[in-house]
Amino acid sequence: MDSMDWANLPFGYMKTDYNVRSYFKDGKWSTPEATDSEQITLHMAATCLHYGQEAFEGLKAFRGKDGKIRIFRMRENALRMISSCEGILMEKLPIEIFEESVIKAVKMNERFIPPYESGSSLYIRPLLIGTSAQVGVKPAQEYLFVVFVTPVGPYFKDGFKPTPIVILRSYDRAAPLGTGTIKVGGNYAASLVAGKKAQELGYSAVLYLDAKEKKYLDECGPANFFGIKDNTYITPKSSSILPSITNKSLMQLAEDMGMKVERRQIEEDELATFEEAGECGTAAVITPIERIDDIEENKSYVFTKNGEAGPVCTKLYNKLRAIQYGDEPDKYNWVTVLD
Ligand code: PLP
Ligand code: COI
Repeated sequence: MDSMDWANLPFGYMKTDYNVRSYFKDGKWSTPEATDSEQITLHMAATCLHYGQEAFEGLKAFRGKDGKIRIFRMRENALRMISSCEGILMEKLPIEIFEESVIKAVKMNERFIPPYESGSSLYIRPLLIGTSAQVGVKPAQEYLFVVFVTPVGPYFKDGFKPTPIVILRSYDRAAPLGTGTIKVGGNYAASLVAGKKAQELGYSAVLYLDAKEKKYLDECGPANFFGIKDNTYITPKSSSILPSITNKSLMQLAEDMGMKVERRQIEEDELATFEEAGECGTAAVITPIERIDDIEENKSYVFTKNGEAGPVCTKLYNKLRAIQYGDEPDKYNWVTVLD
């Protein structure tokens, strides 16, 4: 591990020592157990393979200056996984199993938690799949819950550096009454083509508009959107976006900094009035937005000067990171400190 370049990790998979698994069978969940296998053996008619009975989560553990390990807002991820289960009729994963598995996976892979100075973290990926056979479109009777971890650097390659994103009007990620508010694999499959197109055009992400009217901002492929103007933090309200735990945290922090917070519909044209804009999420943390191009409409909205992050994005980023790494008091009990 001494040879690891902790400060320059990509956001990607790296094999660690263990993952933790729990099985739902005959009406009950098994005690979470660790394995060193990276493989899963599946029935070929498993519902996760055919009918998308699959939900995942993403959270992070951080190594503090004091050497302690902190997991950020684990309970929120457990609750969101339950809401994903309800959304696609999977057996609801108990909060206790979620939390026990996450803690076990982090502790058993402690040597993979990047050191404090590196600015990297341990990404935790809980996954729930329907494993028993169905051929008719019906939910599975049996489920597998797995938690693996992998050390990561920033999701967008330049980290806290403004990045250009694009509106692609010919693609939707999620329908207004569909599965956009839950974290299921199908939403990400639906975003792959647009995501590839954005990359080919030189953008780091797609900013989706609402699918019905193509008028309001929804969110980015892997992160929520927020804009800043007149000392106000503004983020979209929509029935097709994922309720981001990072965004929820930033709304609180913005309020604590004396800003107004608005969660409401945002028309695309309003972008022209924002002083700053950003993407936020577990993987993205805060990624400032350099500019947004609506290429079909030939419009462009610019949010940065000299390619630098704005003052509000910077302040929010520093505050969030300070809580996550334990540099500042955790006054809302967002952090689970492991012993
Ligand atoms: N939106 C989408 C579509 C995501 O995949 C994610 C990542 O989890 C987010 C937003 C950010 O959510 P969170 O802050 O809970 O990680
Ligand atoms: C996360 O931020 O945890 C995500 O899940 C985003 C992406 C990697 C899917």
